[in-house]
Amino acid sequence: MSKLINEYDYAAIHAQAGEVIKNRKHLKRSAVERYMKWFDENCAKSKVETALAAETIPGGIQHNLANNHPFPIAIDRTEGPYLVDIDGNRYIDFLCAGGPTILGNNYPAVTEAIVKQVTEKTHLHGLYSPYERQLSELIGKHMPSIEMFRCLASGTEADLIAARLSRAFTGKKHIIRIAGGYHGWSDQLVYNDGATTEMMKNGIPKDCFQNTHAIPANDIEALKAEIAKWEDKGGVAAFFVEAVGQDSGIVPLTKEFHKEARKVCDEHDMLLVYDEVVTGFRLGMGGAQGVFGTKPDLTVFGKIIGGGLGCSGGIGGRKDIMSLLAAGVSAESENKVKVGGTLSANPLTCLAGITVINELEKENVHEKLDEASKYFMNGIAELTEKYDVPALVFHHQSILHIDTHGLMHLPYFFDTKDPEYEKQLYDAYMNYIEFSMALAAEGLIIANGGKTYLPYNATSKEMLDEALAVYERVFKEFE
Ligand SMILES: Cc1ncc(COP(=O)(O)O)c(C=O)c1O
Repeated sequence: MSKLINEYDYAAIHAQAGEVIKNRKHLKRSAVERYMKWFDENCAKSKVETALAAETIPGGIQHNLANNHPFPIAIDRTEGPYLVDIDGNRYIDFLCAGGPTILGNNYPAVTEAIVKQVTEKTHLHGLYSPYERQLSELIGKHMPSIEMFRCLASGTEADLIAARLSRAFTGKKHIIRIAGGYHGWSDQLVYNDGATTEMMKNGIPKDCFQNTHAIPANDIEALKAEIAKWEDKGGVAAFFVEAVGQDSGIVPLTKEFHKEARKVCDEHDMLLVYDEVVTGFRLGMGGAQGVFGTKPDLTVFGKIIGGGLGCSGGIGGRKDIMSLLAAGVSAESENKVKVGGTLSANPLTCLAGITVINELEKENVHEKLDEASKYFMNGIAELTEKYDVPALVFHHQSILHIDTHGLMHLPYFFDTKDPEYEKQLYDAYMNYIEFSMALAAEGLIIANGGKTYLPYNATSKEMLDEALAVYERVFKEFE
């Protein structure tokens, strides 16, 4: 029913997405009931804890990347490749905190560096530390487009500053992005054309969306048309792309599109901004730009560059553009773009980032991750065939897509105003939350939607086979 597809073959991916949408299967009702019962019987403490949390925390949860159905699981600790909840259940961790922990949990070199820094030096002082320069140089060493780099506190902040910087540098007004992509939740960039839900728009004045526009993935003519539309109305400052494609690449961008987009941006004196929050140091030491052989003007970072610690984000790129950023006394100068952040560039996060990046290089981690990902995903493709489960199965390095619903592909098959789209949306959504729930009950946690991040410390054949066995138990329950 599904084979492992080449991650850059958009035509094959689109075609298989159509098959998944047309023939989507669901878990048997009896299995769903059994899994719900499993949670009630085995996660009693989590249930009480997270219900209590809902009294003082809006909605009870603060992390939106993991499955929270039928209720959130409260985690006590991590043990290498496993998460352990407060009831003592163990789960294989294919969530990787949503991407940052590429080496895996409790990785000795990272833990030792953090502990040594806190116990022997400091975790925070609010002044400059040489770790900031070391991190900037290290990122620049691996990604030649990064001539200068500035730490920020999150990917959302870095995207927001990328927009501000693009406008200040070009003197133009509009931003174009790809529909359905994610560039954080700031007022302007949360805008996503048809895919912007009411909930995401709530609290944001309509005017905020006037200068952000979206085009479909891989459609260079749409990009050109959108640029032409705004040429005499303030002009386009930048084109933002999630470098590997929407939602960590579930709707992947082709290599040709990347090359063409670079050309179009140059022709129109606008900036090409790569959002490498997920892909930076995950697709390889050179990120997605290393894979595509392209050179963005600005790159947005998050996740891995903070080594799994808080306040992980930053922006880097051309020196002439980056020089517009300033802090301290020079921030008062008129032509500067103002940024701040009390905890940005804190020594602990910078050191953790440096340690992880060095470890990735020293241990040749990406080669091992790629090999393990291929083994695992071939196994998944075989299982979907064996149990006749329609699925889209492909991977970008250690970003694994096992998509049994086609949710993100729906706008490429239906008009978003068509009632059938709403029906499909609901059906696909139910598929993915039940699938994630079933995997958790069987002992493995993934990121919402079906994508998973493979951590380095789960790449042994033994671990991968254990994970495949979890998927097999769940695929058996589809009908
Ligand atoms: C592509 C992309 N951009 C931006 C962000 C926002 O980053 P953060 O959650 O650090 O604000 C994310 C988060 O997952 C992301 O995947």
